Amino acid sequence: MSLLIKNGEIVTASERYVADIFCENETITRIDKNISAPAGADVIDATGKFVFPGFIDPHVHIYLPFMGTFAKDTHETASKAALVGGTTCFIEMICPSRTEKPMEAFDLWLGKANANSACDFTFHMGVTRFDAEAEKDFRDIVKRGCSSFKVFLAYKGAFGVTDDELYNTLKLAKELGVIVTAHCENAELVAELQKKLLAEGKTGPEYHYWSRPPVVEAEGVHHLMTFAEMTGAHVYIVHTSCGEALQEAMHGSARGVKVWVETLIQYLLCDKTDAEKPNFEGAKFVMSPPLREKHNQEVFWNALAKGFASTLATDHAPFDTTQKKMGKDDFTKIPNGIPSLEDRVNLYFTHGVKAGRIDLHQFVATASTNTAKIFGLFPRKGTIQIGADADLVVYDPNYKGKISAKTHTMNLDYNAFEGMEIEGRPTAVTVRGQIAARDGKFVGKVGRGKFLQREPNHF
Ligand code: URP
Ligand code: ZN
Ligand code: ZN
Repeated sequence: MSLLIKNGEIVTASERYVADIFCENETITRIDKNISAPAGADVIDATGKFVFPGFIDPHVHIYLPFMGTFAKDTHETASKAALVGGTTCFIEMICPSRTEKPMEAFDLWLGKANANSACDFTFHMGVTRFDAEAEKDFRDIVKRGCSSFKVFLAYKGAFGVTDDELYNTLKLAKELGVIVTAHCENAELVAELQKKLLAEGKTGPEYHYWSRPPVVEAEGVHHLMTFAEMTGAHVYIVHTSCGEALQEAMHGSARGVKVWVETLIQYLLCDKTDAEKPNFEGAKFVMSPPLREKHNQEVFWNALAKGFASTLATDHAPFDTTQKKMGKDDFTKIPNGIPSLEDRVNLYFTHGVKAGRIDLHQFVATASTNTAKIFGLFPRKGTIQIGADADLVVYDPNYKGKISAKTHTMNLDYNAFEGMEIEGRPTAVTVRGQIAARDGKFVGKVGRGKFLQREPNHF
């Protein structure tokens, strides 16, 4: 089956022009004016619409055993939600417990995604323990096509690594040509601050912020910069939330550290006061690092516009309102996460492009192309060119709608962006040449998603 997209305005990170796109055998085979449709081809009229490369979310959690429960989405529900919102590919974090063997965890996560995901996917391999046995597995996992690691400097006693584990992970990554993504918060300080707040009877969701203030995140980034400088490893800071942390990354970069910064749609549109909402509503807005003071939003809009932040992700980690109640009497037990896999692109387009904060090319770069480049998926993903996978988003910039849990696709009983207006939405989304979503509805095939193997040393 072939696909022809006619008369769309093609927008990549660097180009903008009107042309037709013809796709066959899962890839883009021709880009030209006035291509005629062969018999049997699917034809999409994209007149008056943008055609973007499929958007890529560099940071999602789907199968996630965490804080005594499991995230709500399956690969089926998450990939459907991703596609409806224009995300055609995601990178999921494999998060094993310290006692799990890394290779068994890799097979477990791959087994859950294979046959269930409707869009393409790959993984960051979580390093939650580093010893000789684990190291052998990490070497083999890289050979199996997983060329990025994930470390947590937070979550003491769970996913968190010690300094010698961090050092050895970065050393191995440098040797193998693998990039290390990192959650940067000082675990010891978080643990001490949590103890202190609870002892003072401060148990509500609004105190989550005070257990992880900006300085705790900035220290985590500084720590990572020091270790990256000593080892020469390439590092990527996930979910950067505050100006203090961004500055530490930029200081590292000025010293020659190979560092990339990710921020999240939640940090651009929500703030600390959301987690202060009464009647435990604030629990829906508990994530780590926490939502920050509003002035940080401008910092990250500027960072994305100017390229100091390379990617906009979601850190999708869905826990429903019943699960959030696990922390009713103790904020440290509220499962962390604000899901947004489905809404990232439309919210970013609305508040970034339409609001004049982000140039259209920078929008594509930070929501797709840069992720493909940083993590070894480019040019197969992240751009529109002959030979690339035919993951395309025909986007109506004039659509107007509202976000609601009543109409979303994610497997969740709330939406943190409930009632927010959006301007712009995909009218058609393709996965390797097949239409997978149309006008807010999934129409694709569960199980069609492929595991994307990525080579190391692609920098
Ligand atoms: O609150 C968050 N970020 N939840 C997901 C786990 C993580 O730290 O990425
Ligand atoms: Zn994290
Ligand atoms: Zn995460």
